[in-house]
Amino acid sequence: MSDLRFIRVEWDSEIAVVIIDRQDKHNALNADVIAELDQVFTALQGDDKVRGILLTGAGEKAFVAGADIGELAKMDSLSGVRVSRGGQGVFLRIERFPKPVLAAVGGYALGGGCELALACHLRIASGNARFGLPEVGLGIIPGYGGTVRLARLVGLGRALELTLTGEMIDAERAREIGLVSAVVPRAELLERSKELLRKVTKNGPVAVRMALESVYHALDTSMPEAMDFESALFGLLASTGDMKEGMSAFLEKRQPEFRGR
Ligand code: COA
Repeated sequence: MSDLRFIRVEWDSEIAVVIIDRQDKHNALNADVIAELDQVFTALQGDDKVRGILLTGAGEKAFVAGADIGELAKMDSLSGVRVSRGGQGVFLRIERFPKPVLAAVGGYALGGGCELALACHLRIASGNARFGLPEVGLGIIPGYGGTVRLARLVGLGRALELTLTGEMIDAERAREIGLVSAVVPRAELLERSKELLRKVTKNGPVAVRMALESVYHALDTSMPEAMDFESALFGLLASTGDMKEGMSAFLEKRQPEFRGR
């Protein structure tokens, strides 16, 4: 992870804190930020010490205020498809990441920033967070998966209202509609996010990975096929040391020590 200009990675034992830091542009996602996100997630995927990712924006004002409008303004049809496909690919990699990814949203999460939070598995906001998909006001649509993921998360009616009006909602409304699971004071955002993430990372890493795989697989397939897949993963887990450890620990009334295999 050398040569990063816009992303910092900090460590808190098993959690990697990934910070998008382009504060002069409210952490807007230009092509370099997107490429660095890809680079960072590739590196973290292969790092066995990492059991969870906390993704956040630097500064008080923004998680990410969207794709970089200066760059978008220059695109034509062909490069537009390329930009959309590129962002979609990186966000899909985050959504399909084999370890839990939590978005800690302080300030603006607009356009691509909202879409980035949607690609994460868990979301927590601070009271000053603002969510929205303002793209239609710029004459475009969300192009990093927002028209696909938002409706799945909050329902068609609410997703259409946000997508078609382009208006922002505050953190409390985001919680009401299920866009985030909690709203916390700004000063506590990172600690409370780590607390939630640790409720996941304390569990068997292989089980967590397969739970993610099964849930996301089910979104893209028929129910019978999804049930087959779930059973196959369930059976596979029975061959892991983590299952033996988890069940032995319960029966021996002690805390499990999972090794992720
Ligand atoms: N792309 C590029 N630059 C952006 C940006 C984006 N998505 N969002 C903010 N910036 C830049 C501003 O141009 C400004 O840069 P400058 O100081 O060089 O002029 C800087 O970040 C600060 O933004 P500013 O608008 O002055 O801050 P604000 O606090 O008054 O308003 C927002 C904050 C988020 C409401 C406003 O910046 C905004 O509407 N941003 C665009 C949101 C958007 O449409 N996102 C979807 C893009 S597809």
